[in-house]
Amino acid sequence: MEKERNEWVYTEKVKDHFLNPRNILEDEQSYEDDGKGIVGNIKCGDRMMMVIKVDKDKNVITDCRWKTYGCASAIASTSALSEMVIGMPLEEAYHISPKDVTAQLGGLPEHKIHCSVLGDKALRAAINDYYQRNGMPEKVQKEEARIICQCMNVTDHEIEDAVLDGARNYYELQERTKLGTVCGQCKDEAIELLEKYKKKHFGEA
Ligand code: FES
Repeated sequence: MEKERNEWVYTEKVKDHFLNPRNILEDEQSYEDDGKGIVGNIKCGDRMMMVIKVDKDKNVITDCRWKTYGCASAIASTSALSEMVIGMPLEEAYHISPKDVTAQLGGLPEHKIHCSVLGDKALRAAINDYYQRNGMPEKVQKEEARIICQCMNVTDHEIEDAVLDGARNYYELQERTKLGTVCGQCKDEAIELLEKYKKKHFGEA
């Protein structure tokens, strides 16, 4: 049976990772990282730091630590993510998505999925930092935002955030971002992206 969107249900795995988070960064000063990523989601009031150690011959992550001021979902998903990436090649780790982490946790309440993106954003920042520090700037992948609605200055990243935040149709997207409320020329592209991000994060279109 389909769960209510606002139902407050956590799986046992989520509770376990929240109550016993793995790989927390205890002593930031003495940890000698090879890459560090710090991201914040102003909207949520969340902040996440992730550090990694890397086997430089194999480009494989050998350790991953993190700390956050995020909510239960951010803590549980980053804890699970940190376990997943230890022993993983950088290239593979870079492409882990919130959907992969959510699956590992046996699901998250849909309205909390946006909290789980913090960990993988911080991980990508840490991997890019490792590439920068080790003379591989050509490997750094930039996640540049593209403006979709020129009138209201709304980017594709904001559309993705709105979908993660619960927007499921064009009107809900407009409510959250105000796109399409002036000339309306961005509507088709916005709907295309809405469907793309729904599919990416929730497997629906
Ligand atoms: S481009 Fe979006 S309302 Fe004009």
